[in-house]
Amino acid sequence: MSEVSADTVTLDLLKEAWEEVRTSPLGVINTPMIPWCQTTLPLQTICNIHIKLENLQRTGSFKIRGVANQFAKRPKGGHFVTMSAGNYGKSFAYASKHYGSKGKVVMPETAPLSRSVLIQSFGVEVERVPTSCLMNVVNRCVQEDSMTFLHSYDDLDLIAGHASLGMEVLEVMPDPDVVVVCCGGGGLLAGVAAAIKLSGCDKTRIYGVEPTGG
Ligand SMILES: Cc1ncc(COP(=O)(O)O)c(C=O)c1O
Repeated sequence: MSEVSADTVTLDLLKEAWEEVRTSPLGVINTPMIPWCQTTLPLQTICNIHIKLENLQRTGSFKIRGVANQFAKRPKGGHFVTMSAGNYGKSFAYASKHYGSKGKVVMPETAPLSRSVLIQSFGVEVERVPTSCLMNVVNRCVQEDSMTFLHSYDDLDLIAGHASLGMEVLEVMPDPDVVVVCCGGGGLLAGVAAAIKLSGCDKTRIYGVEPTGG
């Protein structure tokens, strides 16, 4: 896993990753950003909001952005392992097939079976384990089977790839007042925040939001 520290993240590094994502053989999409008024979603306040439709992204989420940069930076034909409940695993599996890498996704046994089936359809192995065992199983794969661990949020190449989303936002809307980013492990938030702040948007306020409950 790459060491992630704020000093390592520079605008040049993010631009290089953006180019990698833009030209990736995985076909990452520059998704549309549409005004809120074009949606049917309710809105209580009057302000100029846009949403970026990453649900239209290849493999169904932004994860492919970071994965595109991770795979571009790793040796071809490696044997990789990750842990994921779904969206990262889907992008990882899609990239593994494309790059001809062997792959394994360690999934929590509570994840819907349909996700395992989809990931396996790309030729990637799935092992379903109790959530408390995820990291132990990954460690076993690394130590006993010499696989390389690709982290689903705490990895510099991944975060730099995710930053491409922030760069695309600034192309459409330079210097936004507020940017709201969904957050789990924080990989997307880190990438988007770095893209916006290192691009000089000093006044932009960035919020990470996560769902409450299970
Ligand atoms: C749709 C969606 N949004 C947000 C997140 C959170 O991403 P991160 O872990 O980079 O914060 C995930 C993570 O799996 C996701 O699948």
